[in-house]
Amino acid sequence: MRFKNLLIIIFIFSIGTRISAQTWVVPDDQKAVVAPFKFTPDMQKQGEQLYQKNCQSCHGIPGKDNWAKLTPPPGDLSKEKAQKQTDGEMFYRITTGKVPMPEFRNILSEDDRWWVIAYLRSYNPKYVQPNPVAKAAFTGRTVALALKYSDPMKKIVVTATEQLKDGRSGLAAGVEVMLFVKRYFGSMQVGDVKTTNARGEAVFEFPADLPGNKDGYVEVSARVNDPKGVMKTTPATANLGIALPTDKPSLTASRAWWSTRGNAPIWILLTYTLSVIIVWGFIIYIVISILKIRKLSRG
Ligand code: HEC
Repeated sequence: MRFKNLLIIIFIFSIGTRISAQTWVVPDDQKAVVAPFKFTPDMQKQGEQLYQKNCQSCHGIPGKDNWAKLTPPPGDLSKEKAQKQTDGEMFYRITTGKVPMPEFRNILSEDDRWWVIAYLRSYNPKYVQPNPVAKAAFTGRTVALALKYSDPMKKIVVTATEQLKDGRSGLAAGVEVMLFVKRYFGSMQVGDVKTTNARGEAVFEFPADLPGNKDGYVEVSARVNDPKGVMKTTPATANLGIALPTDKPSLTASRAWWSTRGNAPIWILLTYTLSVIIVWGFIIYIVISILKIRKLSRG
């Protein structure tokens, strides 16, 4: 019996240490990141508004230690524990988040995130901003796509053009392109990833039996395959009348049990209504019986 208790205690402790062991590690190169501009009082004011909208619900008013009681505790960001981080650490943590803190990558722009940091640093009299380092100019490829249906070939030709260093534009070879067709829910990829040739072209076979709208139109789009995000790319979209005309009604147009309430199948409506009537009938029957019993006991 004692042994079993010991096991339980060890188990609980091991869970506790597992949770606390999930520290929030910031990669060294990210720690060293500094803001691309000098913080100004104006930026701090902007940052204050962004903070009130996006952070205050959890972190509380700076200096008041009135943060939300969450696990792990968010803490007051004006206090030593948070302030001893580098700007790069703060920026990384705001960008990436950590449950329950959301990632602000797509909520706040990079400038917004730096302004929030500028605001939080205004609570730290010891803070001296490291020299700003302007963001390096973009050196990757800038590629724009265009797409058209080639009638004699019966294929879709995607052409990639590229902004060259001297300001002119030229055909872009060696660019990976993906083709999509818009469907009910999201997009469907057509064929594999293709690489543009010396004329900047990638040619896609279009499936002959792909259903379109009632006039045979589908929305086709081409995107550059750039998972590492090293290029600046512009996708291309076109409405092409090259698919099979289909007159299929929408998924929710007729009675079906995945449809809207008004379009539920009759048998579901009947079963539901009937069961409600039976349950209520039973309740009313019981109430009447109780009343009858009371009357009998009085009389
Ligand atoms: C949903 C609640 C929530 C919101 C909203 C939120 N945070 Fe957090 N934040 C947390 C929690 C919880 C932690 C502690 C995480 C941990 O220590 O593992 C945290 C930690 C941090 C840290 C690290 C603090 C330290 O002492 O190491 C920073 C910096 C931070 N948050 C900044 C922000 C900023 C700036 C915003 C608004 C743009 C924000 N947070 C919005 C919950 C939140």
